[in-house]
Amino acid sequence: MAPNQALKAFTSLSIILLAISVSIEAKPQQKQTNIVFYMHDIIAGQNATAVAVAGIGNKPWKALEFDKSAIWMTMSLVFTNKKFNGSTLEIQGSDMFSVKPREVAVVSGTRKFRLAKGYALMETAFANLSTFNSILKWNVTVFHY
Ligand SMILES: *[C@@H]1O[C@H](CO)[C@@H](O)[C@H](O)[C@H]1NC(C)=O
Ligand SMILES: *[C@@H]1O[C@H](CO)[C@@H](O)[C@H](O)[C@H]1NC(C)=O
Ligand SMILES: *[C@@H]1O[C@H](CO)[C@@H](O)[C@H](O)[C@H]1NC(C)=O
Ligand SMILES: *[C@@H]1O[C@H](CO)[C@@H](O)[C@H](O)[C@H]1NC(C)=O
Repeated sequence: MAPNQALKAFTSLSIILLAISVSIEAKPQQKQTNIVFYMHDIIAGQNATAVAVAGIGNKPWKALEFDKSAIWMTMSLVFTNKKFNGSTLEIQGSDMFSVKPREVAVVSGTRKFRLAKGYALMETAFANLSTFNSILKWNVTVFHY
């Protein structure tokens, strides 16, 4: 092979290799993010953070009104910090009170959490059984791109 033919062969081989490596690199790498936060679930008093939207007329509403073992939980976490600003996580599952820690699923998300999957562990850090005000510790593990 003449030297310039060898160079041409080498150049076309490196273009093919470059094309292969680019397509591999384009595949997104999965990241893991862990988020721990405390949610104030204050349903009574001056600084309420939660409000009942359904219930039995004139009866004081309680989360355990119908079923004492679990409630169905669905929640959107909306981020306002710099890193995940405007992104959301969608959390859903059966909140079984007797299980420690309770676990629900991270079913998806938006923006930086598109196609996210994961799980969230939850514990009651504080509860007032006369008002049902509570503080929940959340520990969310998310796999995302
Ligand atoms: C409600 O919040 C205000 C402002 O933080 C505080 O001064 C007040 O004591 C709170 N009230 C109750 C009942 O927690
Ligand atoms: C988040 O985005 C909004 C506009 O979409 C902007 O007003 C705000 O300053 C941003 N916050 C941070 C912490 O970057
Ligand atoms: C629970 O709420 C009642 C009514 O507001 C209050 O009197 C009591 O001090 C609270 N208990 C705790 C442990 O915060
Ligand atoms: C959060 O949960 C993970 C397991 O998913 C555990 O390893 C970690 O210690 C927990 N963090 C806190 C602060 O509870």
